[in-house]
Amino acid sequence: MTSPLLLTGGTGTLGRLALPLLRDAGRKVRVLTRHQHEPADGIEYVTGDVGTGSGVDAAVTGIETIVHCAGGAKGDGDKARNLVQAASRAGVRHLVFISVVGADRIPVVSGVDRAMYGYFAEKRDAERVIAESGVPWTTLRATQFHDWILTLLGQMAKMPVMPLWGGARFQPVDSGEVAARLVELALGEPSGLVPSIAGPRVYGMEELARSYLRAVGKRRLMISPKAPGKAAAAYRAGANLAPECAVGRRTWEDFLATQVRQGL
Ligand SMILES: NC(=O)c1ccc[n+]([C@@H]2O[C@H](COP(=O)([O-])OP(=O)(O)OC[C@H]3O[C@@H](n4cnc5c(N)ncnc54)[C@H](OP(=O)(O)O)[C@@H]3O)[C@@H](O)[C@H]2O)c1
Repeated sequence: MTSPLLLTGGTGTLGRLALPLLRDAGRKVRVLTRHQHEPADGIEYVTGDVGTGSGVDAAVTGIETIVHCAGGAKGDGDKARNLVQAASRAGVRHLVFISVVGADRIPVVSGVDRAMYGYFAEKRDAERVIAESGVPWTTLRATQFHDWILTLLGQMAKMPVMPLWGGARFQPVDSGEVAARLVELALGEPSGLVPSIAGPRVYGMEELARSYLRAVGKRRLMISPKAPGKAAAAYRAGANLAPECAVGRRTWEDFLATQVRQGL
């Protein structure tokens, strides 16, 4: 009988998609979440917070493999720190982490950088914490998910003028494909930093915004000011892209069409 696998972030966009794949692979899954959930078939929910460390020791007890998808705009370094300390104490054999393309290439040196792009520095910190933890690990970097692009454009389109990020490009990837790759990695041996996963095509932000507006039947003016700072410059230079890792198959157009059919 295999021990249950711990999934952090199992209630989020990515984790929710990884969950059934892990169950289909015959694994019992324990999900760590900050909120109460009723147990479901083959899924146990435990309450805890990787940001504060509360409940994390109990969550990792009896666990051999952790898939760490819990993340947010802030504090992912500390989340990783709390998780690996508990994992180390519990003798976890494999920690699989989802990071972001650009974590190692988007410099966050000023307050301006941190305000907009601090997320990348946090991911880099989390990567280092995990790599140096002594717990065997696998890290996969992904480009931005279609879902995230859709949410961002949806928020921008609430304004009369859409404030795009001048010069920014994206290579959106399907979160379902990322979930499938993470699960494959979790079922295998610790592999260190593996090749990134990125979507099939690179798009300018204006092109994404135009396709979004067409899909939702809105008209908006757009502005594309160039943000100051080194992080924004790295973004414009494509540090968030991985054209050499364009293994994702689902296109933005296909994703968007499905979302429109489902009423967005
Ligand atoms: N979205 C993207 O484009 C993208 C691209 C590359 C990498 N990633 C990374 O992929 C991961 C998943 O992203 P996502 O888009 O699925 O995120 P999401 O939808 O925002 O979900 C975040 C998840 O993290 C959990 N979480 C956050 N803070 C937590 C805490 N302090 N303690 C315990 N759980 C916590 C939440 O669980 P509860 O609310 O239930 O506690 C939720 O399940 C993140 O690490 C993200 O950085 C995302």
